[in-house]
Amino acid sequence: MSITNESELVGMKKASEAVALTLKEMREFAKPGMTTKELDNYGGRVLNDLGAKSAPRLTYGFPGWTCISVNKEFCHGIPSDKKILGEADLINIDVSAELDGFWSDNGGSFVLGTDVNQHQKLIEASKQILHKAIYNIKGGVRVADIGLLIETEAKKRGYRVIKNLTGHGIGRSLHEEPSEIANYRDRFNLTRFKKNSVVAIETFITTTSTSAETLKDGWTMVGNKGGFMAQHEHTIVVTDGKPIILTAMNEIWN
Ligand code: CO
Ligand code: CO
Repeated sequence: MSITNESELVGMKKASEAVALTLKEMREFAKPGMTTKELDNYGGRVLNDLGAKSAPRLTYGFPGWTCISVNKEFCHGIPSDKKILGEADLINIDVSAELDGFWSDNGGSFVLGTDVNQHQKLIEASKQILHKAIYNIKGGVRVADIGLLIETEAKKRGYRVIKNLTGHGIGRSLHEEPSEIANYRDRFNLTRFKKNSVVAIETFITTTSTSAETLKDGWTMVGNKGGFMAQHEHTIVVTDGKPIILTAMNEIWN
């Protein structure tokens, strides 16, 4: 969407604070021994208390309130009472929701407890690259150039990017134009970021895989060549200068 007045900005801020706070609280609530279903139910309660409705559930009938992906799962992991979180797991939580007609999206990867599997370097790379990408976005910048930046920064650190997962426009629904904000230079994408538009920018930084495939459960995505992936996502408003980070409250950069 494009922000055309103050009340739309206020609406986007409220929806964004709800998803950001939910993501932050879920990250703090996650403990070894807990099932992903317990963690998701907690997130569902936080969203509900804030008056927000799970976006993947509303939009796609996703069987959970949030997406929780663990280790080899890259994204869209289904919360399960059989999946138990363990010490040193690489966890990704993605929270998107609707509140009073406004939609926002955010996500982040983190290690649970002590990082014995050394995932932190990948996580730091993803965080830094998201930061650099977002602060290079302003009205008139080509979407493909941000893709190039993300891919270049990933390569510099010895990583790859997933090509079939992308950031996206958002605001009045979960996915809007520009529909594909890729993590690589898509030379066929001539779109430019527009001032006052709302977009969800997300990284998909990997150790080995370059595309994601859906498992038989119809939701969970894993890498075509295995390995691990880190994702970090903010919903922002594009301006002439620095973007407004609507989901800053999630503290994924802290
Ligand atoms: Co998301
Ligand atoms: Co998204």
